[in-house]
Amino acid sequence: MENRYNWKVQPEWVVHSPGVVPGLAFAINALTDPGDKVVIQPPVYPPFYAVIEENGRTVAESPLVEANNKFTMDFESLESHFSSGVKYMILCSPHNPVGRVWDKEELQHLARLAVQYEIIIFSDEIWSDLVFSGHRHIPLASISPQIADRTLTFMAPSKTFNLAGFYLSNIVIPNHELREQFCAQIKRLGLTHLNVFGLVAGEAAYRHGEMWLKQLLAYLEKNARYVARKMSKITSKIKVVEPEGTFVLWLDCRQLGIPSQELNNFFVSEAGIAFNDGVIFGAAGQGFQRMNIGCPRALIDQALERIAAALKSL
Ligand SMILES: Cc1ncc(COP(=O)(O)O)c(C=O)c1O
Repeated sequence: MENRYNWKVQPEWVVHSPGVVPGLAFAINALTDPGDKVVIQPPVYPPFYAVIEENGRTVAESPLVEANNKFTMDFESLESHFSSGVKYMILCSPHNPVGRVWDKEELQHLARLAVQYEIIIFSDEIWSDLVFSGHRHIPLASISPQIADRTLTFMAPSKTFNLAGFYLSNIVIPNHELREQFCAQIKRLGLTHLNVFGLVAGEAAYRHGEMWLKQLLAYLEKNARYVARKMSKITSKIKVVEPEGTFVLWLDCRQLGIPSQELNNFFVSEAGIAFNDGVIFGAAGQGFQRMNIGCPRALIDQALERIAAALKSL
């Protein structure tokens, strides 16, 4: 953490959980009450909705704002939620699916609001290692001691090293009281033990995986730029939202003129490509598709050829 993000983490702040999504569920159960509202910023990773709603809490949406092919936070809407009594938020940083790596000013602004309105932030930073050149991941909790005191940071080797099946994640909770409440929830559920293969895989990845990660990042970034460049040659009607990190691209297909509810099926049936349908990321995802570029470039070439052919049939 110190090497990569310039964030000094005390070992005792780190708690393990069998996944980030289970960790979010522990946090929601441990720290919020039934009916409480939790802010999220759609379009966003669908399990955020599920983890809030399936635990009897309520989603409060603060949609991201899009301008010139770039998404930003809507601070006015965030402040209006916070000033009307909402006390919790799940932040996605970097953001899946829009590919934003939040910059220092944005995080400082959010931190100021969170401290002012006494918000607890569940900061899902699972994508923190997959950030492209020209951008830097800044953990929200590293912005100031005040925000660290009210932030739970969720990280994992699973995206970075493709180890999701090992069920291992790291939750950093500097605040002693919040950490105790979080750990008590894990104990209540009898989930204090982790899979020993996950521990070995996670340790091996962190200890020996840095060179591999460097190469992966160069490859992913090339994939991202490659798709954006090629897509713009194929059609002006699918815009690739400028990616700053992650291995998912957010494709703006609104100009295609295909009704939102038919869009995903168009790519499946006409191109043989299964994107993630934009609407599963919230209503703000209508007209968008999410493309996974964590694959060999040859596969991407095939996909692009198929898209070009399918568009001709339109
Ligand atoms: C933002 C975000 N959080 C969490 C996860 C999954 O975490 P886990 O497998 O540790 O539950 C993903 C996977 O796509 C993700 O995009």
